[in-house]
Amino acid sequence: MKTLILYATKYGAAAEIARRIAIQIDGAILHDLKQKSIPEVSEFDCVIIGSSLYVASIRKEAKTFLSEYEITLRDKLIGLFISGLDTESTPQTYFENNFPQELLSAAKATCFPGGIYDPEKAGWFERFLMKAVKKTTAYSNTIDDSLIKQFTESMKS
Ligand SMILES: Cc1cc2nc3c(=O)[nH]c(=O)nc-3n(C[C@H](O)[C@H](O)[C@H](O)COP(=O)(O)O)c2cc1C
Repeated sequence: MKTLILYATKYGAAAEIARRIAIQIDGAILHDLKQKSIPEVSEFDCVIIGSSLYVASIRKEAKTFLSEYEITLRDKLIGLFISGLDTESTPQTYFENNFPQELLSAAKATCFPGGIYDPEKAGWFERFLMKAVKKTTAYSNTIDDSLIKQFTESMKS
């Protein structure tokens, strides 16, 4: 099955998750949605789309892709992932608020495997928000490989 993994990232956490998914799926092609030339989506059987979350919202590149390719995605096997650090809200709410309902209901699997916060990469306003909202100033990496494994197993089953 030809698999395309598209991701939107700011500092690399969603890219790292996409890479970890890709190594578990034979021949999967990885593509950063920041790059203009998206591979020919219609040629793939399976499309996995992921983004990081900023103030409860997926990145603009992911939203643009989802609206432009809504029809092309209808006959694909779909997987969705979100990278975020929230442990309090239900991940399902983030999926419902960020992905078209039709795509989300058709998705074979979804995954919220965690994220990375690196204060050395963040801008001053992001550091301010993290301190004010999350009460953290420290580096954090919560990516859970077992959740990524479960996701890829579901996609392949
Ligand atoms: C300003 C700011 C806002 C964030 N908002 C959220 C949020 O609403 N929910 C969440 O789960 N994580 C949130 N995060 C954590 C990021 O989603 C997490 O660090 C993610 O792994 C970053 O991925 P990226 O490097 O691919 O952009 C936020 C981080 C920052 C710096």
